Amino acid sequence: MGFAFSTVFPGKKDNMNDQVLIFDTTLRDGEQCPGASMNTREKLEVARQLARLKVDIIEAGFPIASDGDFEAVRAIASEIQGPRIAGLARCVDKDIDRAAEAVKPASDRARIHVFLATSAIHRQYKLKMAQDEILKRAVEGTKRALSYVKDVEFSPEDASRTEPEFLAAVTEAVIAAGATTVNIPDTVGYAVPHQYGALIKYLFDHVKNIRQAVISVHCHNDLGLAVANSLAAVQNGARQVECTLNGIGERAGNASLEEIVMALKTRHDAFAGFQTGIDTRQLYPASRLVSHMTGMVVQRNKAVVGDNAFAHEAGIHQHGMLANRETYEIMRAEDVGRSSELTWGKHMGHHAVGKKLEEMGYKLSDDEIRRVTEAIKALADKKKSVYDEDVRAIVEGQFTEVPQVWKLDYLSVMTGTIPTATVRLIRADKNEPISDAGTGDGPIDAMLKTIDRITGIKGALNDYSVGSVSRGKDAIGEVSVRVQFEGRMVTGKAVSTDIIEASALAYLNALNRCLDEQRRRAEAEKPTL
Ligand code: KIV
Ligand code: ZN
Repeated sequence: MGFAFSTVFPGKKDNMNDQVLIFDTTLRDGEQCPGASMNTREKLEVARQLARLKVDIIEAGFPIASDGDFEAVRAIASEIQGPRIAGLARCVDKDIDRAAEAVKPASDRARIHVFLATSAIHRQYKLKMAQDEILKRAVEGTKRALSYVKDVEFSPEDASRTEPEFLAAVTEAVIAAGATTVNIPDTVGYAVPHQYGALIKYLFDHVKNIRQAVISVHCHNDLGLAVANSLAAVQNGARQVECTLNGIGERAGNASLEEIVMALKTRHDAFAGFQTGIDTRQLYPASRLVSHMTGMVVQRNKAVVGDNAFAHEAGIHQHGMLANRETYEIMRAEDVGRSSELTWGKHMGHHAVGKKLEEMGYKLSDDEIRRVTEAIKALADKKKSVYDEDVRAIVEGQFTEVPQVWKLDYLSVMTGTIPTATVRLIRADKNEPISDAGTGDGPIDAMLKTIDRITGIKGALNDYSVGSVSRGKDAIGEVSVRVQFEGRMVTGKAVSTDIIEASALAYLNALNRCLDEQRRRAEAEKPTL
């Protein structure tokens, strides 16, 4: 098969049909998952890491959705070099115009991604449109996007539940209108691999101009089949996979980027030599960064990036591994960026720290490097060994620039028959400490109730988890919380060698995030003169 890569990626040859393009939608579909929202600075940091990963396309957001989304897409399009930058738009003029404005700074790397549902159920109940109207709108939307950029992707939403004949007609029409990529989404995660693969093959057999565009797939994980479905599509001709780091996304999430990439790399034999351009050593740092920024904890047994993914507990496995790693290991931890060296110490100067951070893929300002160096020294005073993971936790902490309206100043918690907490907080605008003490069902409950009393904002803790960043009894504890404040679900995360302190900091991080969101919403609603 020969795909028209030269139209989409000028400079690439037509015979590159073993290349699978990685379209990352962590910042758009991933961020749509409740409680995972990120501010512009956090999105930019994730986008920088996506560039280090060498993804081909970053879907940076849905510019019409809010001013915050628009601002983030524009900032990413202005700063990030390397990947193409896409903005999502419905097949509606004002959406397309706004997306075009947001991606403009990326100039010839700008992509507009337009979508319109095609399945019978969406046509009847959501859009109330007949097939011919959908076809007409899809073509008009594609053409309008093409009036702004050369690179236009069209997605027939709910494609996997669309009548194949109609899906083929829409695909053919948008390609004829100039779409450079046509994406076939399994929007509700309904597909199963053999049928989804067959659907892609059907399109290749029935759409006469299909080789003029890249065929893409976008799978949701409602049945746990998103990765399997994406790979089945690749085997049948798809050459772009849309996915997210850690598989985050609406409901059960999207296909996980790290799983797709490592499946294609590790089972090169089974996938006829398909390859991606991903630097796999950046996968683990990317996974950690996204988990930190969104507060979405990665499950321990998650393939590729979970804590247990490379841990061998059973004696028989350990014995085999010592004799030959390949007895039980199909991928090497180092290949996904999981090496852990003991080379961080309190005597390192900020130049040495900066150099090592750069090797780990972080680009920090001088001031940030100094802050990280101080934090490493403080940690080295508290614990015997400082690992790469500890340093990553510290660095990622520096990036969470949520304005600290409420700051922890002092904390003392006692457990026992009547758990008691004494808390002192500082409110940024007043700059004077406020203290209170109280009891609760346990030490954490006592502490959080006391915080609520001081701030006057009651939070409902929906989820609380604690994990260790590295190893040993003195390891850094990492606490993640999901809290509902005044009807809004937010996440918070913090690290400390003291998990009670980490819990207070994570809770305050969630509260500050909620207040920051409220402030930004209020600003956006201010009437303009
Ligand atoms: O799941 C979906 O259909 C989408 C489209 C906008 C591509 O996210
Ligand atoms: Zn989706």
